[in-house]
Amino acid sequence: MKILVLGDVMGSSGRTALKKNFSKIVKEYEIDFSVINGENSADDGKGITKKIADELFSLGIDVITSGNHIWDKEETTKFIEKETRLLRPANLVKGSPGRGYGIYFSKNKKYKIGVINLMGNVFMKKTEDVFLTAKEIREKIILKKNVDFSIIDFHGEITSEKMAIGHFFDGNSTCVVGTHTHVPTADTRILEKGTAYQTDIGMCGDYNSVIGMNKENSLKKFFKNKNATKHFPSEGIGTLSGIVVDANEETGLAEKVFRLITGGSLEN
Ligand SMILES: [Fe+2]
Ligand SMILES: [Fe+2]
Repeated sequence: MKILVLGDVMGSSGRTALKKNFSKIVKEYEIDFSVINGENSADDGKGITKKIADELFSLGIDVITSGNHIWDKEETTKFIEKETRLLRPANLVKGSPGRGYGIYFSKNKKYKIGVINLMGNVFMKKTEDVFLTAKEIREKIILKKNVDFSIIDFHGEITSEKMAIGHFFDGNSTCVVGTHTHVPTADTRILEKGTAYQTDIGMCGDYNSVIGMNKENSLKKFFKNKNATKHFPSEGIGTLSGIVVDANEETGLAEKVFRLITGGSLEN
């Protein structure tokens, strides 16, 4: 089973890169299941609309995760109730619309895949305790009991929380990836008990920017220049950034993992 997980899709640059390359990647790496983080996929880099979610699903993406930007577009609070393939962090304050995890089928309907979305507590919006939520979910989504594979997107600012969650799910999950910082880390590996891990899988968007936003305007903002405007996405050629996990069908654990970084200024 080959799983593709891609980081935060940023504005039209990220979406264009996906449209151009997604099916090629699926074919080349024989991807069976794909998850992307869509929290920045709207034109202004803030949130996701129904139209864009549908557009991403029509490319063949199986599940869209998110993070702190999930409610930036008001319509999301409504359409998320019916759209079970769009997740918001599971530890958002109790009573939030939508769901934070789900069980999905592989395209051949042979396998059940759990996808879990969590959001860190440090330097992020106020949420429920992410470690307590993770513990509850780990008792509900169990490899080889009710799912064949599982994928965790931990949306967070700090590396230590992400690494701790990686170890917490080690042996209980196919892969744990971090998102939100929009910069890929170089610690891609398989943890001791078989879970593939990367602290942050980066962004799908234009890296000739400040984490996806126009660099000139970002600099003006940092220098407190009065001519600075609201942040807006940089629209150069986008890079797709994420990981490919080759997982064992018997154990649901990772056998191989590698970083996939293609196109734009990060082409490797
Ligand atoms: Fe993001
Ligand atoms: Fe974020």
